[in-house]
Amino acid sequence: MATRQDSTERLINMPSFNQLDAHGRLRHLISLEGLPADTIHQLLDRAQTYVRRIDERPAQSHALTGCTVANIFTEPSTRTRASFELAARRLGAEVLNLEIQLSSRMKGETILDTIHTLQAMSMDAFVIRDAQPGVCRFVAENVAPHVSVLSAGEAHLSHPTQGLLDALTIIQHKPQLGDLTLAVVGDIRHSRVARSAHHVFTALGIGELRIVAPDALMPESHEMPGAKRFDSIENGIRDADVIMMLRIQKERMEQADIPDGDQYFAQWGLTEQRLSLAQQDVIVLHPGPMNREIEIASSVADGKHSVIRQQVTNGVAVRMAVLESVITTRQLARGIA
Ligand code: NCD
Repeated sequence: MATRQDSTERLINMPSFNQLDAHGRLRHLISLEGLPADTIHQLLDRAQTYVRRIDERPAQSHALTGCTVANIFTEPSTRTRASFELAARRLGAEVLNLEIQLSSRMKGETILDTIHTLQAMSMDAFVIRDAQPGVCRFVAENVAPHVSVLSAGEAHLSHPTQGLLDALTIIQHKPQLGDLTLAVVGDIRHSRVARSAHHVFTALGIGELRIVAPDALMPESHEMPGAKRFDSIENGIRDADVIMMLRIQKERMEQADIPDGDQYFAQWGLTEQRLSLAQQDVIVLHPGPMNREIEIASSVADGKHSVIRQQVTNGVAVRMAVLESVITTRQLARGIA
């Protein structure tokens, strides 16, 4: 009998999955890998029109009135889930948040039966976060033709809307990506955020992408082609224009492999002193949740170089752009836009 592991391996070894429809329009968003730069630029440009200062009224539209978006999160989330929900509501859609702990999946229902059940209640998009590789794609291959699937984070593999919001945040400060050095620092091995950063900045053409981590937290040597590897934070962030700090993803590690927090901070934490090695106008990103005084000092997280809160603001705008794009693509295909 095929095990869950076997079917996962089969899923991730399948030929690459086309997220665009026959007309080259975005149908699903499962990964930024291989997505055309034009499509990424269009999403970022659209997202920028939805960005407002936090003391302004948020952008709203009726683009998705009458549509329904289901959020299915089987892993914890604060920012991503809240921002997908707000994004859908601000476009006029209804939102269903499936409480997976209370759902029939806990009684043994398969993910496909759950999806088909919800689809029977009229859904336009499923937003899925799952710890198992391949689930988003599997659902995308099995939904009705008018339904889209958006990944809100897939295992350690990909987090496409995070990659987009990181790109938008960097471009707002430093539009000439080709001139920039970006250092991604921390637990890169277990990070879907780092992988999506690699996908998006490869597509958009960043000057230099550095991955900076202790050996145990580096990805396999064949992963992230083109990125320069550094095994010390001092060397890795020297003269960087942008630094992206990452949390240690304990939930994807064996207990014995989790580094001690104090020791990690001493060797790998981004302190103000270390930050002074980077460019004077360096910006600091972090996808959250932050573990203060482990990967980042509070004074840096809250300091003048930090754009961490702006990332959160941009997250809503990016998710509005993505939801609007995939749902209107489906409406066009059905001739109802
Ligand atoms: C990240 C995630 O879930 O991958 N958080 C997020 O979506 N903002 C990173 C993390 O959990 O460390």
